Amino acid sequence: MHPLEELRDAALQEIGAAKDEHALDAVRIRYLGRSGSISGWSEQMKSLGKDERPIVGKLLNEARTAVMAAIEESATRLRDAHEAAALANIDISLPGSARELGSLHPLTQILDRAIQIFRRMGFALADGPDIETEWHCFDALNTAPDHPARNEQDTFYLPDGRLLRTHTSTVQIRAMQAAPPPIRVIAPGAAYRRDEVDATHSAQFHQVEGLYVDQDVSVADLKGTLEFFFHELFGAQTAVRFRPHYFPFTEPSFEIDVKSKALKGGEQWIEVAGSGMVHPAVFEEVDSARGDTAYDPEKWTGFAFGLGMDRLAMILFDIPDIRFFVQNDLRFLRQFA
Ligand code: PHE
Repeated sequence: MHPLEELRDAALQEIGAAKDEHALDAVRIRYLGRSGSISGWSEQMKSLGKDERPIVGKLLNEARTAVMAAIEESATRLRDAHEAAALANIDISLPGSARELGSLHPLTQILDRAIQIFRRMGFALADGPDIETEWHCFDALNTAPDHPARNEQDTFYLPDGRLLRTHTSTVQIRAMQAAPPPIRVIAPGAAYRRDEVDATHSAQFHQVEGLYVDQDVSVADLKGTLEFFFHELFGAQTAVRFRPHYFPFTEPSFEIDVKSKALKGGEQWIEVAGSGMVHPAVFEEVDSARGDTAYDPEKWTGFAFGLGMDRLAMILFDIPDIRFFVQNDLRFLRQFA
């Protein structure tokens, strides 16, 4: 037997014995690689005699072709075996695992609706931190040092003197610090109070704050804006009532009640928001923080409002207890899918 034939047979045997693709590749390199033993023969060709050359050339080609084919075949066989082993543990007769679709939380749904309605009236989104300075939450909003809202019984204070904002009106201040008038923003977000938790009170609740500052903004603009909002949200037949109230940061101030036959609770007025015309003292405090006179109260007027979103969702979806929002009970949440 010619040595090339011996090499070929040895290679074929090793190929047959290779247990994985890695071993197979080692055989290929050993025989067919650049310095492989079969390849070595093509180097030697030059030194062969005229008669021998075609014979060896033929043997060389045959050996190469045979080894390459065997490697190819073996590789396919190894790959198939590998796949079959992987699939062996999968029972394709089992039912698939269903992918359950999630849905938006009712509070998120009503926030999205509210944002959409205000966007159509040209309000941009603004936000601020839940952990606030006392200045943003109270001082800048013209709230007296002895106002009960500042009390530790009503407000969560952090050891460093900051607090969890008790309302989103803090964002009014931040928005005015950040940009001169005119300004037209809404700020959805959470607020926190040390309330006794019951069916209508939660230590964390949600508001959408609104602020519009421009020249000649009036109570009529405030009423028109919020009436439009409630008609869009609850239907055109909804009655909206502005009831005089007191907030330190607005003058005059109003609480807003709505009533609609379409809503559960029917003919009853339900309080849903606080509002009013921005107090000149708020503009002055913002100006002194800004170090300019951008919000000159002689030149600019504005209105602000704060909507209680948990309350609005409870009315719209007829939810009897505010605690349902945070209990993560799928029987509750699925009703809003
Ligand atoms: N911040 C007030 C509250 O939480 C609501 C409000 C906002 C009132 C803006 C007037 C103007 O009760």
